Amino acid sequence: MSLFHQHLRRAPAVLSSAWRSLHSRQTVARSITTTSVAQNGSQEVRARPRVVFSGIQPTGIPHLGNLLGALLNWVKLQRDASPEDQLIYSIVGWHALTLPQDPKALSVARRDMLAVLLAVGLDPNRSVIFHQDENPHHAELAWILNCITPMGKLRRMTTWKSRLAASRNARDDSEVDESLLNAGLFTYPVLQAADILAYRATHVPVGEDQQQHIELCRDLAESFNRTFKGKRALFPLPQHVITSSCRVLSLRDPSSKMSKSSPDLNSRILLTDTPAQVRSKIRSAVTDSTLGITYDPETRPGAANLLSILAACTDEDVQVVAARYADKGHGDLKGDVAEAVEELIKGPRAEFERLRQETAYLEEVAKKGAEKARALTEPVMKEVRTRIGLV
Ligand code: TRP
Repeated sequence: MSLFHQHLRRAPAVLSSAWRSLHSRQTVARSITTTSVAQNGSQEVRARPRVVFSGIQPTGIPHLGNLLGALLNWVKLQRDASPEDQLIYSIVGWHALTLPQDPKALSVARRDMLAVLLAVGLDPNRSVIFHQDENPHHAELAWILNCITPMGKLRRMTTWKSRLAASRNARDDSEVDESLLNAGLFTYPVLQAADILAYRATHVPVGEDQQQHIELCRDLAESFNRTFKGKRALFPLPQHVITSSCRVLSLRDPSSKMSKSSPDLNSRILLTDTPAQVRSKIRSAVTDSTLGITYDPETRPGAANLLSILAACTDEDVQVVAARYADKGHGDLKGDVAEAVEELIKGPRAEFERLRQETAYLEEVAKKGAEKARALTEPVMKEVRTRIGLV
């Protein structure tokens, strides 16, 4: 039996209930339907296959925010996709380079991220899972798109400012010293647009903070289509799929997102945390001193964060969860959150620890993924080169 099959057979067995329910629930064919009004005014509803593309940076072990905000949704999309939908998930090493990285650590993180994607239940036989840096077409298209991207548009993006600020541990974006800005970080959104457009992707599941990048991507697609006309527009305008209502906040400072760059290790829960670490981090989460629990993100962000983590872990509505704790204390809530989080991560954690040892298997998955990715983008790039005149 090939390693692929071993993985597929074994993976669901070790997944925690939250992830298991994700896998066992019946697959619902749910491709996006597009409604177009036909000549006679009657509505014709057609289901068009989707091309879903998303990416994650290999910058360390994912935390609960990455798991609930992104990866869980990738797995859900895989579960709910109709058979003709294409799912493409990339580990974006070139994006990681836009901030300084230690080469040894990056190399480990890059391989670990592949193990994580498999450990949470992405199936390399269903989804294309690959390293961005193993498909040179992304870089080629990024260069071409750079040449039609107005500087002013990039300057208006807020993400490079906040990334710089976060990397320098500055309190806010206005403290950022632009002399530290490299050209790569500045054109980061153009590379992201290239990632998406190289596959002619139609749907991009990413968090709220990425909205502006998707808008730029649509602008670039439109601008390319207009400038380099062919029989039909080359690039579809991709849609932003808001992946999650669960935006996980820092456990120590619920006014900011849970983040990899915070110096306070207690502010985030990592996929590799032990059950004791999960318990102690949740126990030390900042809450308030009001009696009883209510879901009120404005005035009680700490409690609201714990409630939405719990709701996301158990796949329930946050208000329903909050009602259960109306007469209870923060201690009860924290105990249950810790248990739910442990339940969520224990399967993927065990699978990750197992898979990260299987380097030959990971290499095989990466190699096959990159081959599939390049095969998908080759015809698109051929058309791009023809349209711009580099033939
Ligand atoms: N910028 C994304 C993030 O920080 C990662 C990313 C890179 C991405 N390329 C992408 C996401 C293409 C979606 C599609 O989360």
